[in-house]
Amino acid sequence: MSSFNAIRVHQGPAGVRATLEPLVRQPLTAGEVCVRVAYSGLNYKDALAITGRGAIMRSYPRVAGIDLAGVVEASEDRAFAPGARVIATGAGLGEWLDGGLAEYAHVPADALLALPAGLSLFEAMALGTAGFTAALALRRMLENHQDPAQGPIVVTGATGGVGSVALMLLAGAGFETAALTGKPEAAAYLRDLGAASVLERSALDLGTKPLEKAVWGGAVDNLGGEVLAYLTRTVKPWGNIACIGLAQSAQLHTSVMPLILRGVSLLGIHSVQVPRPWREALWGLLAGPWKPPHLESRLVRSVISLEQVAEAAHELIAGRARGRYVVRIGAEL
Ligand SMILES: NC(=O)c1ccc[n+]([C@@H]2O[C@H](COP(=O)([O-])OP(=O)(O)OC[C@H]3O[C@@H](n4cnc5c(N)ncnc54)[C@H](OP(=O)(O)O)[C@@H]3O)[C@@H](O)[C@H]2O)c1
Repeated sequence: MSSFNAIRVHQGPAGVRATLEPLVRQPLTAGEVCVRVAYSGLNYKDALAITGRGAIMRSYPRVAGIDLAGVVEASEDRAFAPGARVIATGAGLGEWLDGGLAEYAHVPADALLALPAGLSLFEAMALGTAGFTAALALRRMLENHQDPAQGPIVVTGATGGVGSVALMLLAGAGFETAALTGKPEAAAYLRDLGAASVLERSALDLGTKPLEKAVWGGAVDNLGGEVLAYLTRTVKPWGNIACIGLAQSAQLHTSVMPLILRGVSLLGIHSVQVPRPWREALWGLLAGPWKPPHLESRLVRSVISLEQVAEAAHELIAGRARGRYVVRIGAEL
């Protein structure tokens, strides 16, 4: 059987180690689809797994990569015929299933979606889990009656993948946005994504009272910790906080006051195990009415190879990245 290259993460006595290595192709089992991967992307979770900074993988060794886009090579499921263009985000890839940072991936059919009309394989991975998560956040906020008239939406971790797409989507949906960032030098980038104002994280007065002056219509939070606690204290009545990430901390110390005195909602956002109809609907929006214009030039920081993934993962963990990394794996298909 022929071999293919993949980024595989091993656990040994010295900790976790990721290597680009050849793997032997295996026969498909029932319900599996073999995807020839064209592109993947790099998310914070991938960076945690590859650098060993977070316990993302359920067992080792495991091929990394929570996202992929490519073409069906062979299929043991009727829903996907050879030649079909497909995408997968989350769904266990790179966690309990081998992932997308590989030339080939065997994926359960349940995890795959047909590439929606309106997106190229490249654009799907420019968005990736980051874009899908931002769309899920916007959908949940809209379903819970978030309205532009309530005031600006603050996006934290704004230069990151999720933050960047959130700014684009919110602007497209008619919301005024404020970008909260640790990188004030990225102001022009953030304004280009749609941010009406750019705030420097270190200059923010977080306050300590259970309720501070309400200034935000709502929030999309990628940081957790003290910043998320601050958001609970400063979102206006009936505003929503989409709780997505923990780039600062997994802790949340706040009180019930914003919830019971302002009707503020903390919306949990979980992008991995999402009901199929939601996934299809959200990708349909991302490919259609919500598709941000000039996706590639505004959002993609760089297109990298599998050989460059480890270095980019360290950039992400250090908080130095901006926008999205797309990993080019196969030829343009
Ligand atoms: N709930 C879900 O299903 C889901 C899905 C996707 C992602 N996430 C989580 O959402 C977060 C963002 O993901 P991503 O893919 O957008 O990551 P990313 O591209 O690496 O962006 C994270 C951003 O957070 C800020 N940041 C990084 N380290 C920080 C630190 N130590 N303290 C404060 N801010 C820091 C930086 O933005 P600034 O410099 O602009 O502040 C950075 O660009 C991660 O925690 C990720 O695990 C969750």
